[in-house]
Amino acid sequence: MPRVAIIGGSGLEELLEEIHETNVETPYGQVSLRIGTYGGEEIAFLSRHGPSHAVPPHRVNYRANIWGLWKLGVERIIGTSAVGSLNLSMKPGDFVVLDQLIDFTKSRRYTFYDGEDSPHDMKAVTHVDFTEPYCPEIRKAIIDSAKELRLPYHPQGTYACTEGPRFETRAEIRALKILGADVVGMTQCPEAALARELGMCYASVAVVTNYAAGISGRKLTHTEVIELMKEKGRELRALLMRSVTNIPKIRRCECGKALEGATAETEKETEKGHDEE
Ligand code: HPA
Repeated sequence: MPRVAIIGGSGLEELLEEIHETNVETPYGQVSLRIGTYGGEEIAFLSRHGPSHAVPPHRVNYRANIWGLWKLGVERIIGTSAVGSLNLSMKPGDFVVLDQLIDFTKSRRYTFYDGEDSPHDMKAVTHVDFTEPYCPEIRKAIIDSAKELRLPYHPQGTYACTEGPRFETRAEIRALKILGADVVGMTQCPEAALARELGMCYASVAVVTNYAAGISGRKLTHTEVIELMKEKGRELRALLMRSVTNIPKIRRCECGKALEGATAETEKETEKGHDEE
């Protein structure tokens, strides 16, 4: 049973041995993923945009992906993503271990706690704490690994998630910068929040692929994003694998307790009252 999963682009599986594909059924549809071993440990790999990068960020089935990993028994997830930089100290090719995020998406399925449309035991109104969206233990493992491997990295960064699939306007980037964003991408929301709703640990390593719109004065292309991700592939794989090794075997973070106090007592009592009748 894999304990750790990596969500990212294709090609990251290369370091694994004994890879096999598996399909997992979820209330939101089927998820295909790969399971392999590294250093004797099983790791799950999920390609966020599908095996041939065919699913755009606003149409990714985030709920199926996270539910599928949870169903497999995964407790900890490292999500990787490409980002544009708004912060001149974060240069193309740098890694950013995200510590905060701001959600500017518009039309995604954001929660498992979706009232009447939820699986039977998740109908109650539930608000999970998301003050710190990323697991501190996994963040530390990634930071330690980046240091050990002497990679160019930033130990903190605020990610603004836009809806896409278009890139941002110059004015949007100016606004996001004023609001405190360092980097911009299209995939962290609702992925990070969904993991929290299931009590899973989630952290993310972002790869700066370009300066955001209007910062460099050049037109943005998806091709440059893909090219830079390819260039950084070897370093990213090394960083991820070292991070998996550095994640403590026993969870001492608060992520697993996310549901404590998240559902109103009155509602729980009402349900209990009904059960007892
Ligand atoms: N904007 C949004 N998403 C991105 C960017 C960007 O500039 N670069 C890579 N993903």
